[in-house]
Amino acid sequence: MAHKMSPLVRIVVILHLIMEIHSRFEFTNVNCTLVNKKFGEFDYCYLKSVNRTYKYMSIKLKVYELPIRAMQINMELSKRFNGYKPFLYNITFDACKFFVNPNSSPVAKFFYESFMTYSSVNHSCPYNHNFICEKLPAGFVNERFTRILPFPDGQYLLETRWLRMVSFLELNV
Ligand SMILES: *[C@@H]1O[C@H](CO)[C@@H](O)[C@H](O)[C@H]1NC(C)=O
Ligand SMILES: *[C@@H]1O[C@H](CO)[C@@H](O)[C@H](O)[C@H]1NC(C)=O
Ligand SMILES: *[C@@H]1O[C@H](CO)[C@@H](O)[C@H](O)[C@H]1NC(C)=O
Ligand SMILES: *[C@@H]1O[C@H](CO)[C@@H](O)[C@H](O)[C@H]1NC(C)=O
Repeated sequence: MAHKMSPLVRIVVILHLIMEIHSRFEFTNVNCTLVNKKFGEFDYCYLKSVNRTYKYMSIKLKVYELPIRAMQINMELSKRFNGYKPFLYNITFDACKFFVNPNSSPVAKFFYESFMTYSSVNHSCPYNHNFICEKLPAGFVNERFTRILPFPDGQYLLETRWLRMVSFLELNV
């Protein structure tokens, strides 16, 4: 039963997020790209600066085919040297299994708690709703990257890829 998921990739959502960590953390850019347009549509994907101390990120992905029963998430961090180079983490995890037991992957847990606690993808499968991240404050992420897991100064890029997996059962329908 361990291999009942097909590796067939139906969607990839890429989120580029540049983080500058100096004395102060900043989100500098966010870019949501949907590779397979049949999967859904981004209603919005933006950063907003309210004032000098409050900046947030909001994303809404309307998903056409629900429910989602299996999903893999890849998170790749890179740091700017001459161009962006892989930095520390490039992890892929099964979202459904991870949410059942978040302690199974401390790294996934760190990213999850930093970016996804403000999102609707904060529970196990199936997902019967759109993907929404509502007003994730830069200050919250800053706190985690500077206090909980101190990162050296620099510019970072976090790319996340969301892969919808399909079970043979669904394929055969
Ligand atoms: C977002 O990323 C895609 C793919 O890398 C690129 O084609 C597009 O120009 C980018 N959009 C913005 C606004 O940066
Ligand atoms: C920035 O905006 C937030 C939310 O509206 C507010 O709570 C905070 O006091 C503001 N900070 C400054 C320095 O104006
Ligand atoms: C990171 O992992 C993903 C998924 O396995 C892979 O596609 C990507 O090429 C990897 N990145 C690097 C720099 O090795
Ligand atoms: C998931 O996010 C929703 C909406 O922000 C929130 O109401 C709910 O308490 C969160 N659940 C968990 C387990 O964090």
